[in-house]
Order: sequence, then C-alpha cells, then structure tokens
Amino acid sequence: MLYIGVDLGTSAVKLLLMNENGKIQNIVSKEYPLYFPHPGWSEQNPEDWWKAVVEGIQELTAECDKSQIAGLSFGGQMHGLVILDQEDHVIRPAILWNDGRTSKETNFLNEEIGREKLSEYTANIAFAGFTAPKILWVKNNEPDNFAKIAKIMLPKDYLAYKMTGNHCTDVSDASGMLVFDVKNRCWSKEMMNICGISEDQLAHIYESYETVGTLTDEAAKELGLPNSVKVAAGAGDNAAAAVGTGTVGDGNCNISLGTSGTVFISSKNFGVDKYNALHSFAHADGTYHLMGCMLSAASCNKWWMDDIIGTTDYAEEQAAIAKLGQNPVFFLPYLMGERSPHNDPDARGTFIGMSMDTSRADMTQAVLEGVAFALRDSLEVAKSLGINIERTKICGGGAKSPLWKKIIANVLNIKVDVIETEEGPSYGGAILAAVACGEFADVKEAADQLIRITDTVEPEPELAAAYDKKYKVFAKLYPQIKSLFPLLSEN
Ligand code: XUL
Repeated sequence: MLYIGVDLGTSAVKLLLMNENGKIQNIVSKEYPLYFPHPGWSEQNPEDWWKAVVEGIQELTAECDKSQIAGLSFGGQMHGLVILDQEDHVIRPAILWNDGRTSKETNFLNEEIGREKLSEYTANIAFAGFTAPKILWVKNNEPDNFAKIAKIMLPKDYLAYKMTGNHCTDVSDASGMLVFDVKNRCWSKEMMNICGISEDQLAHIYESYETVGTLTDEAAKELGLPNSVKVAAGAGDNAAAAVGTGTVGDGNCNISLGTSGTVFISSKNFGVDKYNALHSFAHADGTYHLMGCMLSAASCNKWWMDDIIGTTDYAEEQAAIAKLGQNPVFFLPYLMGERSPHNDPDARGTFIGMSMDTSRADMTQAVLEGVAFALRDSLEVAKSLGINIERTKICGGGAKSPLWKKIIANVLNIKVDVIETEEGPSYGGAILAAVACGEFADVKEAADQLIRITDTVEPEPELAAAYDKKYKVFAKLYPQIKSLFPLLSEN
C-alpha cells in the first residue's frame, strides 16, 4: 500500500509518497507566499496552502497506481491561528507561529493571569507565537472578526477539514495553543474562559495516529484520489519530524534545522520545565515531549546567503570556512525575535566582534555557529532539569550541510546520528497514516522498523572544548544588550 505525508511548512508544502516498507516513491514541494505586513508580523493565506496541496498531490501521485493509496496524514507548522466563519470561510489571513505582534496579550497572560496558573492549566506559559495570545489579539484589535469566529483551527487542521469535512486537531499541535490541558489531553475550560471562547469553537481532539475521516467526494475529485483514502489527524511539524526520525520512547532527542530550530526530547511521562523555557507538549506516539524552539534557524543562513551576500551556492560559500572554534565574530540569530529560552519578541539579529580583518567567510561561519549556540541554550535548560542528552537525530533543510552538522555536534558536544531519510515531518506524516491504516501496531513499532541510522558525527574533544569557551561568551551577549532591543524599533 502507499501513504502520503504532507508537511505544511512556512515557505512551502512538502509532499511525500511512501510504500509500506518505508521506501520513498516520490517527493514534491510547492511554495506559497509569506507576508510580513509589519516588522515582526507573519501571515499566510490558508487558501494558498490548499491550492498548493491540491497541485502537489496531483503531481506526487501522477505516475502511481492510485488504488494503492491507503492513507494520508500531516506534519504542520504549529501555533498558527486560522479562523473560520459559520460558512467555514476563512475570516482573515492566518497569523503564524513566528509572528510577534502579541506582546501586550502575552504579557497580560503571563503577568495578570500569571505563569503559575497558565502552567497549571496548560503545562506552559504564554509565548508571543502561541495561539491563545493571538485569539486575544483578534479580540482586542479586530472585534468584528472576533465576533464572526465559528471555528478556531491550526494550519494543518484546515487541510484535514478541506479533505474530510471534520473540524479536527491532534494532541501534539493542540498543545501549542495554550488552550489545551497537555497532561490530560483535553481542552482547558479555564483557558477557554480567559480567551472568551467556547468548546464548540474548538476542533475535535484526536491522537496523531487516529483516523479523522475519509476524503469527501469533492476533495477526492479535486485531489484525484479515491474517496476511500483515510486521513489521520497528524501532528505538529516537530512531533511529526520526531516520528520521522524515530525520536519516540523516553529521553531521545531530535534537532530540526528548518525555518525554526528545535530541540525535541521525547518523554514517556508528563513533565513541566520548572523554568518554563522549554515547552511541555503531547507527543504523536501517545506520550509527551519537551521542546525548545528558536524562531530563526536555517532561515538565518538562507537570509544571509540569499538576501545579504546574494549567492545560491551554499556549499561553495561554506567551503571557505577555515576557523572552526576560533571565530571572534558572533551572531545572535534573533531575526524574528526569540522564543526559547528568552521569550523576547523584540530581540533582533546582531553581529558583534568584527574587525578590519574579518572576512565574508567569518560572517558566514558566525551565522551557522550562532544558530548552534542558540540550540545549545535549550539543551542547557534540559541539562539543568537533570535530562542528560548524549546523542541526537537531525533533520530539516539545514541538516543537509555536513559542516553545520559538525558545528552542532561540537557546540552541543553530543553525537549527531544521521538517518537514511532526513525528510522529517513529511516522512513522519506518512508513518502516522500507515499506523492509522493498521500497517503497524503503533508509532513505536513503525519507527523501529523503518528508521535506519547511516552515519554518526562525533564531537572532537579539542574542538568541543574550544566551542565550550565560545559558548560561554555567546551566553553573555543577549543579557548585556537585551534592554537595547525595544529602542531599535522606536521612531
Ligand atoms: C514550534 C514552532 C515551530 C513551527 C515551525 O513550537 O513554533 O517549530 O512549528 O513550523
């Protein structure tokens, strides 16, 4: 049988076709626009997602025997607010995970409702990109739109709705809304009250590997698929990526180097980070996870290469890097503000340490290292909670660079396991569909059978020691300049 994984990303949707043995048959990617209507805001049109998915699935399945397609599921960019009216029409563009407009609402939640209460209700505190502050932002700033809301959805759930007619979500993605009681895997009445919404405005909750429906006749026709195709709830992109890299069970780690950068730690048991720097979310395999999320990771490198120095040959640019562990230039990768661990929407990207002999290669290197240092910030929080990580998997666009993987292994001083299929969320989505269709007993069995490690990047003691010193400098930079960031946006 065949299974489709849909990774609804920030710059594009990636679609993957996999057979029951986990072998990839085809991959298609379709881009859509991303809008920044104000500095620090970030929006997309859900209709653009759907159009890209329709075109992409037609292309993905053009050559295969469609009667063999049994299931489809998702990994989706998390936290985005999609609001539908009574007729299920989209009310306004989706406000995305990396949008920083909600400082006021985030402060209200953290300071006036209070971090302790939020943590008790949801296992998390408010971050600007989470969904609840966005609901409050629409309430405060667009009351007419707020009054029209019949359904509140997350990005990938809008696709599931278009396919099946079911207003559904899954536990991992719902965890990032701050309206979800993560421990008990249900909506939080207290948070609904605080946001001024009712349960019938929220989606039905499923485990990620559960079937939410089959394709409606209309969707089947549009997608060119049989209407027997089962749609499984899917997961937030990080939980889906964790499934796709076999990061299930207890104490396993995956690093995703996509637009965002995440450190994902699977956990058999529910637990809350007492510092509230790491998110405590439900996992797609039926358990839990902790996660640190930086808002700009591979996107920093893309910005530097494409927009600033104007090159498309990333590998050639990186080949000029020769000073690993000795770079005096540092880069703070906060191009869209920062989530973990600083929770500061005002933070901005910063280079520091240049001199007259600084080269273009030093700056390129500083960007790669800055992202690695910021990932280590999250790993340090995990360490302080007594979680000992010795190795990690890795996925996402940035993971294609051998140099970046080496920098990460040495900055974090852990082994980086490279897997055969680095596709992450789309592969995880296809695996969740296969589990929903009964191909495997559960997510763990699927991951154990399908994921293979092909190489390991080991930290080198001398280089890791040099980076340890550099990290200590990096860790001092943000606290020293934090108070300057709000001044930068003043006119
Ligand atoms: C996770 C997060 C990002 C997005 C990216 O909390 O905000 O990783 O899911 O798509």
